Amino acid sequence: MANGVSLKGEDITALEYLSKEQIELVLQEAAEMKKIMQRDIKKVPALRGKAIVNLFYEPSTRTRTSFEIAGKYLGADMININSGASSIVKGESLRDTILTIEDMKVDAIVMRHKAEGAAEYAAKIATPVVINAGDGAHAHPSQGLLNLLTIKEHKKELAGLKCAIIGDILHSRVARSDIMGMRKMGIEVHLAGPQTLLPRFLGQEKGIFVHDNVEDALKNADVINVLRIQLERQKAGLFPSTREYSRLFGLNDKRLAMAKKDALILHPGPMNKGWEITQKIAYGNQAMIQEQVTNGVAVRMALLVLTLTGGNR
Ligand code: CP
Repeated sequence: MANGVSLKGEDITALEYLSKEQIELVLQEAAEMKKIMQRDIKKVPALRGKAIVNLFYEPSTRTRTSFEIAGKYLGADMININSGASSIVKGESLRDTILTIEDMKVDAIVMRHKAEGAAEYAAKIATPVVINAGDGAHAHPSQGLLNLLTIKEHKKELAGLKCAIIGDILHSRVARSDIMGMRKMGIEVHLAGPQTLLPRFLGQEKGIFVHDNVEDALKNADVINVLRIQLERQKAGLFPSTREYSRLFGLNDKRLAMAKKDALILHPGPMNKGWEITQKIAYGNQAMIQEQVTNGVAVRMALLVLTLTGGNR
């Protein structure tokens, strides 16, 4: 607990439920966790004796692996359940799966599911801490937090920054968690993307601006968050061809020049390089993609230690 702010015993299902002070606590704790990550021997006993289940109903590379590494660095026992190799394929319901895991006396369940609200449902019916690792188009809180950590490391002060978020805002759990987290920390958010994928009502909220063209969103931006375009939306007719998308919204040198010279470029991965972002920009000096992956481990270590023990400070 720091200054009376705590996350001990809390479920992390969406950033709207965290206060600004709790987000600051996670960012401070994650900075400490990065020091552990830089050691030769990256193992500490903070979560020794704790059991954490990674329950993933959807594919993942970054989130699943980084939660596993995070738990292992902290000394916890990590158990991975892949829905395709579990009793879920025999038709076991989400409720029964969660309650079965709970009966094994685990301390936390990290969960990704295609249905919006799945993590909140799990948190309601089960006593272990539940951490949402992505639920449909709803939320991806640890991604929102690792993005904030990456921005803070480079810009120091979050309040007053301008962030452009480009792409499929409507179906993006990353965008939703970014918007929630960034607004809590005083970052101004500018959204742009295809008309069919741009929820205009968000523009009625304080500090959120919805733009008809990507250039207006990028003007003087301190941070550019390029979302992954989910190609399955193209089949549903919500999305122009990749060529058209690239022409209208892709991040290229000309568009990047509209942002501040030292603008940071974020992408949650995996990237569709060549049309949503050029190869050159994706591997350029301003791209934070690799740092985001490293910070993903630190933020997930912080979330596990803070929710399961309250942290040491
Ligand atoms: N950013 C992200 O959620 O990536 P994964 O799907 O690989 O976990």
